[in-house]
Amino acid sequence: MSDTHMPPLHEFLTDPSRAERLDPALVSLVETIADACRAIANHVRYAAFEGQSGAAGGTNVQGEEQKKLDVIADDEFARICSDVPRLAALVSEERDEITWLKEPEEGDYLVYYDPLDGSSNIDVDLSVGTIFSICQMAEGDRAEVLKSGIHQVCAGYAIYGPSTILVLTTGTGVNGFSCDDRSGDFRLTHADLTIPPTTSEFAINVSRYRHWDDAVRVYVDECLAGETGPRNRAFNMRWTASMVADVHRILIRGGVFLYPSDADNRDKGGKLRLLYEANPMALIAEQAGGKASTGLTRILEEVPQSHHQRISVILGSSEEVTRLEEYHQRQG
Ligand code: AHG
Ligand code: MN
Ligand code: MN
Ligand code: MN
Repeated sequence: MSDTHMPPLHEFLTDPSRAERLDPALVSLVETIADACRAIANHVRYAAFEGQSGAAGGTNVQGEEQKKLDVIADDEFARICSDVPRLAALVSEERDEITWLKEPEEGDYLVYYDPLDGSSNIDVDLSVGTIFSICQMAEGDRAEVLKSGIHQVCAGYAIYGPSTILVLTTGTGVNGFSCDDRSGDFRLTHADLTIPPTTSEFAINVSRYRHWDDAVRVYVDECLAGETGPRNRAFNMRWTASMVADVHRILIRGGVFLYPSDADNRDKGGKLRLLYEANPMALIAEQAGGKASTGLTRILEEVPQSHHQRISVILGSSEEVTRLEEYHQRQG
């Protein structure tokens, strides 16, 4: 592919021939987030040299042990985004409270982010990422921070793997931009990512089998039964324990990702967080032709009650998500 087929992010976002015309303030915000992801990628890459490996010594509001890089990524993301003129607030996994950057006004933006997803993988040098979601304020009322995911105007993630790739949707399709470390540019390398409706691959932490509801157990049992089971085919399983890596795999070659609520996490609502993990990944899945569900309802229609709210997540190839919804309905 020649360079002319790989436009840089700015050119792509402002291309007048695209179906959607983006607010210049949103374009600038997305580019600033790309800058933050590039900076975080460098911290991840040079962590061992900078004494930034291992635990930070504290616990975040989620009750999780923070890695040094969780804290560094959060600080870096917030620092780089804090000068964006129309950004009213940042909502982070690593911050107890919402960070208000200005008195909100109609048309301002809100950014929700998981600065370092899959951070348990940091010390073993496996892929991690940053997840983000952007909403626009209709009235400028602080209560608007608890918006359902259908109001997202942009969602994306950066994966820090063998290469750094920024995957984005602004509401019409999903595109991936690889970071060229020589220039620092993000360029379109993965145009129109789509999730095929049919798949034979699933991603779930099977060590939680004893906690699962019957619907999830039956589904996984049937996949594991292979060619002689009710699904009449072999299924493959992968679990990275990094949502970004597991979802990225599904965008590249199909599959279904599950982190359901179960008997062990139901009192909290599930494991994954609605505003900065489930919602952005749900919008990306839907925009790529897939589905995203709690098992019973569409994730994007969930109205949040609090900014760290957790939720059951099932997303990816539409046939499998629909099947899982049927099993959940049957279970009642
Ligand atoms: P984070 O590192 O941002 O706290 O997120 C971790 C999440 C997600 O990335 C992953 O899918 C899941 O937790 C892994 O959970 P298990 O450790 O139960 O496999
Ligand atoms: Mn965490
Ligand atoms: Mn996460
Ligand atoms: Mn995280």
